[in-house]
Amino acid sequence: MSIKNIFKNAIIPEKFNIKELYNQETYLINGVLRKWTGETSKVYSSIFTDEGNGLERKVIGTIPNMQEQNAFEALDAAYAAYDYGRGEWPTMKVEDRINCVENFAKMMVETRDEVVKLLMWEIGKDYASSCKEFDRTVEYIYDTIEDLKKSDREDSNLKKHSGIYAQIRRGPLGVVLCMGPYNYPLNETFCLLIPALIMGNTTVFKPAKYGVLLLSPLLDAFQKCFPKGVVNLIYGRGRVLATPIMKTGKVDVLALIGNSKSANALQHLHPKQNRLRLVLGLEAKNPAIVLPDCDLDLAVQECLLGSLSYNGQRCTALKVLFVHQDIIEEFNKKYVKALSQLKYGLPWEEGVKLTPLPEAGKPAYIHELIDDAVANGAKVINENGGEVVESFVFPAVMYPVNEKMRVYHEEQFGPIVPIVAFDDVSSPLDYVSESNYGQQVSLFSESANTLAPLIDMLVNQVCRVNINSQCQRGPDVFPFVGRKDSAVSTLSVHDAIRSFSIRTLVAFKGTDSNKEVLNDLLDNKQSNFVSTHYIL
Ligand code: G3H
Repeated sequence: MSIKNIFKNAIIPEKFNIKELYNQETYLINGVLRKWTGETSKVYSSIFTDEGNGLERKVIGTIPNMQEQNAFEALDAAYAAYDYGRGEWPTMKVEDRINCVENFAKMMVETRDEVVKLLMWEIGKDYASSCKEFDRTVEYIYDTIEDLKKSDREDSNLKKHSGIYAQIRRGPLGVVLCMGPYNYPLNETFCLLIPALIMGNTTVFKPAKYGVLLLSPLLDAFQKCFPKGVVNLIYGRGRVLATPIMKTGKVDVLALIGNSKSANALQHLHPKQNRLRLVLGLEAKNPAIVLPDCDLDLAVQECLLGSLSYNGQRCTALKVLFVHQDIIEEFNKKYVKALSQLKYGLPWEEGVKLTPLPEAGKPAYIHELIDDAVANGAKVINENGGEVVESFVFPAVMYPVNEKMRVYHEEQFGPIVPIVAFDDVSSPLDYVSESNYGQQVSLFSESANTLAPLIDMLVNQVCRVNINSQCQRGPDVFPFVGRKDSAVSTLSVHDAIRSFSIRTLVAFKGTDSNKEVLNDLLDNKQSNFVSTHYIL
């Protein structure tokens, strides 16, 4: 199939077809699925279809276009449910909170087919990756439950030092404003929301810009599984909803995966900034450094995966490839050939890897980067590179890229692959040192002598050095974090539980009367916090 016909000849399998619009007519505030009667916004797919008027971006539904006062209602509900830490949810037994989250996971599993279908339509993610996103999220929830049980068991004892006993646990922080990204609208959002909830925080949750309707099948589960006010889900624009509620000072944690500019703008609105904890996953410009003593085929394969999985729309994507002068000709040839074998098409097509993009402005932006790179001496070195058909952009491989070009510096978050030649490894190392970002790097070499000094320098500048492998977040039990403008706080199954909680303790001098009171309290299981009970 020629690229031009990517949408024209599309056959939509029956089970993935959308026959009726998904009109999201309710929203969740204070435990009630309220009917929305105000203005709505259309939800456009990444995919263009021809329904009689030529190719048009398909409308797949509508969502409430909520306003400032709705955001305040959601915030007030979360604030009241937290009630300064005195509410039902923050004071509940950890075991009971775990049960709520487990019930949610069970209900969630039932929605898999629908959520996967919406992931494909809304953000153009291929079927296999959409399934993976769903399954990985469910696994993340169960792993979080297990991790919390383990750490709760470890905390279910009393420590004694200098004549003072203490029970030390982790407590919640308060109201969490939670906003996820469009590239992983389920997974990344839930990697914030679930640990925030399970640790006893209450939440105001605003879905990403794209990938909104896929939460509709889950609204019921949120409503049924959590006490009122614990999960409040609002629809609309971040500027309209998040800005006013940050200004109130009632948000204790800003949990956002997105852009550092929005994160900066929002955090500065908080009137009491020391009260605000930040859990942020932001931009990155992860480089690959391909050294002359690498396994070239392996390097090409990993660089291809790293730069173009989900069309390069991953914060962990390889966004610039530094390749040693001696092997660059061979590398480019092999890279371009491997790319030409990637299947493009619509998300449900078997084996498809390159798919349409959700952001309306992205094709034009990719072209700005191409034009700028060409004006500064680079070429598109692959056949069809940069070809656009509506929302689909065939990846453009640019070579030779240098520091005068925008694509050398900007996080493209899309299908354009800048390749830079180097003859001294100090130039990619300087790139990392001078970069505004510090998430990950990939090193390609088969020599321990080559790798060792690079590893030792790079671990102090980024937060994950991948050897002969692409950059990636997973497995989700590993710490996911970044330096500089790439992240604040660590997210992994275990670290996220820590990020959304604070250590708090009950301490007492070991006098006879204190021992008697505390023994009484423990024997009668009167406190949810001071307890030696083991969650099994
Ligand atoms: O967009 C950033 C994601 O966390 C990347 O996750 O490396 O598993 O694709 P991934």
